[in-house]
Amino acid sequence: MKEALLTTLRDKNTSLDAFRAASRKLSSMLAAEVAAKIKQKVVSIETTLAKANGFKVAQDVVLVPILRAGIALLPSFMYFFDHARVGFLGMRRDEKTALPKMYYENLPTFHKEEWVLLLDPMIATGGSSKEAIKKVIEKGAKEENIYLIGIVAAPEGIQEIENEFPKVKVHVVSIDEKLNDEKFIVPGLGDFGDRFFASK
Ligand code: PRP
Ligand code: URA
Repeated sequence: MKEALLTTLRDKNTSLDAFRAASRKLSSMLAAEVAAKIKQKVVSIETTLAKANGFKVAQDVVLVPILRAGIALLPSFMYFFDHARVGFLGMRRDEKTALPKMYYENLPTFHKEEWVLLLDPMIATGGSSKEAIKKVIEKGAKEENIYLIGIVAAPEGIQEIENEFPKVKVHVVSIDEKLNDEKFIVPGLGDFGDRFFASK
């Protein structure tokens, strides 16, 4: 089903409501996949009939959406990780240079063992992701506890991130063909933020 949802996002004729619905469903599936990896510990409980062993989540998580587009992923991740703290990073690519500029930062201090889930549907050159990773490491996150979660990535961006931060775990729905001359992902889906927020 992920492929069908991604195709809806890619299609330039998809309406705003269908784009938002597909984003919502896909982000729920991504959140469920990451939640399935969470550490659990054994606990003893009592059912109404007997004592039983069970499991309890044993992993603290901080969610960090990269504004704007990362906001699209946030509700699903807050649903699955309902105890997670949430920090924010605002980042915008310059239209000419494609270099990211950070315009907002509101991050907690991270504990070494916490997982930090960076949420951004699009990883193109990897510039925005690398800035975000640097910031959360500065704030105390451990590289191996950082998960970069997205929908579409370009191979060039993934390579950049792997070169600089080999321990960061990247979890995306699709790694597309390439970047074009304007540093947009091909075939991609266009500008996610503009489409999700209907801002153009
Ligand atoms: C998009 C996207 C990523 C970034 C990816 O955001 O959501 O943050 O570009 O490109 P990169 O890998 O080359 O850095 P954009 O700058 O368009 O801002 P927005 O989220 O406000 O739309
Ligand atoms: N940001 C997007 O939203 N799409 C791209 O293809 C590249 C950057």
